[in-house]
Amino acid sequence: MTFLRLEELDLAGKRLLIRQDLNVPIANGRIASDARLRASLPTLKLALERGASVLVISHLGRPKAGRFEPEHSLTLVAAWLSEQLGRTVPLISNWIDGVTLEPGQIALGENTRFLVGEKTDDAALAARMAALCDLYVMDAFGTAHRAECSTHGVALQAPQACAGPLLAAELDALGKALATPKRPLAVIVGGSKVSTKLDLLKTLADKADQLIIGGGIANTFLAAIGKPVGKSLYERDMLGTAREILERIRARGGDIPMPVDVVVAPEFSNEAHAEVRLVDDVEDDEMILDIGPKTRATLAGLLKNCGTIVWNGPVGVFEYDSFAAGTQALAKAIAESDGFSLAGGGDTLAAIDKFGVADRISYISTGGGAFLEFLEGKTLPAVAALMTRAEG
Ligand code: 3PG
Repeated sequence: MTFLRLEELDLAGKRLLIRQDLNVPIANGRIASDARLRASLPTLKLALERGASVLVISHLGRPKAGRFEPEHSLTLVAAWLSEQLGRTVPLISNWIDGVTLEPGQIALGENTRFLVGEKTDDAALAARMAALCDLYVMDAFGTAHRAECSTHGVALQAPQACAGPLLAAELDALGKALATPKRPLAVIVGGSKVSTKLDLLKTLADKADQLIIGGGIANTFLAAIGKPVGKSLYERDMLGTAREILERIRARGGDIPMPVDVVVAPEFSNEAHAEVRLVDDVEDDEMILDIGPKTRATLAGLLKNCGTIVWNGPVGVFEYDSFAAGTQALAKAIAESDGFSLAGGGDTLAAIDKFGVADRISYISTGGGAFLEFLEGKTLPAVAALMTRAEG
């Protein structure tokens, strides 16, 4: 992938417009996870140290365009940045009208999605954004799958456009794991539905050596090979598709290792009585909520020998302790593996935090939807725009 990189450019005295993904979860008036902010901070420090003036912009949540919504304001993010940078980072509501900053100064523009035209990638709004800078820096990997004004349109119109260090690092890590992986390549895909991850599963059937499935997706595959799944969550209309995916990967010499045992309960609750069953013995009134101990051991052994492991999604209801052992065993196996490991997606990051393995995963992505679309082999529009600019 060819695009300009921030580190390669002379920044002194330049006006930078930096698009980051500062879209963090907020609960009870507090930032619930600052992972994205921590990942974004080095880019801002670098730009300031190199003598640029910095207007940083981001969206937060999904507000209705054309009005200010306090619950979608970046106020808490401005306070977080001020604390981390040891200086006041003012939050500017009407930044689109222009902000005057000296070299070495920084300000945060209020939520891009308050602007009419942001979501629709309006060319006139993009031109106004482009006029605010000498250099546009796209650093928001988590939003790179959105063709919006601040992620795409402005890149096409700014005097110069480049990738920020976080975006570049994400693309390098994902490229390493998927374009030229050290084999065997194992990909773990958890989640509730085959239908929402269909493109991903099909792409991986052509790429992965071992495709480890979990959650409702695994239930659908179990049903597809004729196993009883009781009252588990699964998709009846996806059974044929599941069989096709299984045949496709096996035809290449790869595999989807199917669970041989599972943890079941009569209901979806932490208090429910959990029992281990062989997959042939699941009863009509039981739900599969995790993989069982034999399956855990097999998968952990398999992961040990992989050159590359990509992890997206838990294999059980890990939020409840009775059904957390499967996801915990995989987290531990990934942490102990010598291979290159890459993880991404909201639930996956929560599991990594819960099991305390963050420092033993080679790369943790800040992307949710963007991470999935990259795994699916799609070109991210924001990255495509940077590549177009690099071509001249
Ligand atoms: C995300 O959290 O996945 C990104 O910030 C993109 O947000 P969106 O799905 O609202 O576009």
